[in-house]
Amino acid sequence: MRAIVVNSWLQGPSDMSVVDIPVPTAKAGELLVKVDSAGANFFDILMIQGKYQIKPPFPFTLGAEFSGTVVQATPDDERFAIGDRVFGSNVTGAYAEYIAVPALQCFPIPSALTFEQAAGIYITYPTSYAGLVLRAKVQRGDWVLVHAAAGGVGIAAVQIAKALGAHVIAATGDKGKFEVCFQQGADHCINYRDSDWAEQVLRLTDGVGANVVYDPVGLVEKSLKCVAWNGRIVVVGFAAGTIEKVATNRILLKNVAVTGVHWGAYVRNEPERILEVWEALFKLADEGLIRPVVFQPIFYGLDKAKDALAAISRRETYGKVVVKPTESSVPKL
Ligand SMILES: NC(=O)c1ccc[n+]([C@@H]2O[C@H](COP(=O)([O-])OP(=O)(O)OC[C@H]3O[C@@H](n4cnc5c(N)ncnc54)[C@H](OP(=O)(O)O)[C@@H]3O)[C@@H](O)[C@H]2O)c1
Repeated sequence: MRAIVVNSWLQGPSDMSVVDIPVPTAKAGELLVKVDSAGANFFDILMIQGKYQIKPPFPFTLGAEFSGTVVQATPDDERFAIGDRVFGSNVTGAYAEYIAVPALQCFPIPSALTFEQAAGIYITYPTSYAGLVLRAKVQRGDWVLVHAAAGGVGIAAVQIAKALGAHVIAATGDKGKFEVCFQQGADHCINYRDSDWAEQVLRLTDGVGANVVYDPVGLVEKSLKCVAWNGRIVVVGFAAGTIEKVATNRILLKNVAVTGVHWGAYVRNEPERILEVWEALFKLADEGLIRPVVFQPIFYGLDKAKDALAAISRRETYGKVVVKPTESSVPKL
């Protein structure tokens, strides 16, 4: 099969190569899945450079998220059978025609979702649900300010906050991304490259401020200017590349709670929450309240994964970027 295999640390995505390797063997408790779509992530770029927190031993197949069809099931696991549509995640292996992955890291694809939509939901949607519901306890009628609102976790947060009955202000760094945020339910859009964006939030909320700030960028300090009394700020990530030092007196002044969310660490610390979160998300998907957004164009063929990752690094993308491992996936005209 064809796969993107990393044998040594690379300079960047343009150095990635697609090679032929044997189809992986599924061990006990694993499924063998024919990959239909792989979800691309910024951290793929860090991983090939040896700059990510996880450094897999060489050689490894790149790619953390996928959707596809089960071709070999685990006899003692009744959840999955050959032919089932599944999505899942693993540290490595998704940029390939087949992946062997623990069945515990897979879920059936909800009937309303396509392979392309399902390829990028394993990390984004539960992160945003846990951030907004478990950590910030979003209430109906709250004003929720979502930073990087057109990104992977951002769009999920916009949709989930709307489904919970909140008013949503979507913040992006590019006016061109407003349209996708409005399409996903945002009530207002602002550009955090404007120097007065915090004042804009105060104006939109009649001076009250945002009850909840969802922050995958690293904008806590500035968000304190426009957070409401008793507001909750959720630290999700540091897309801007800097970990902030915040003046804690400003947290005290408005009774603010600054909280974090680390979805991947729930496996270790609160595994019982994982199914609870997914059940809530599947219900929202069945009700049509969440609709994963796939960046267009889809990248057909593993050779195009470098273009997909380059687009992410240039901040050109919205939603989830999807790579199809086989060029034959290109629809016939
Ligand atoms: N805590 C968790 O459990 C968890 C889970 C998943 C992801 N994360 C983190 O959340 C962050 C976003 O993840 P994602 O999957 O949504 O990523 P993404 O789809 O690549 O979106 C990231 C967005 O951040 C914005 N951004 C703002 N400043 C930026 C800068 N200086 N450089 C690059 N982008 C910048 C860009 O949107 P604009 O162009 O609109 O500014 C970009 O599109 C990442 O830091 C990720 O590690 C955390």
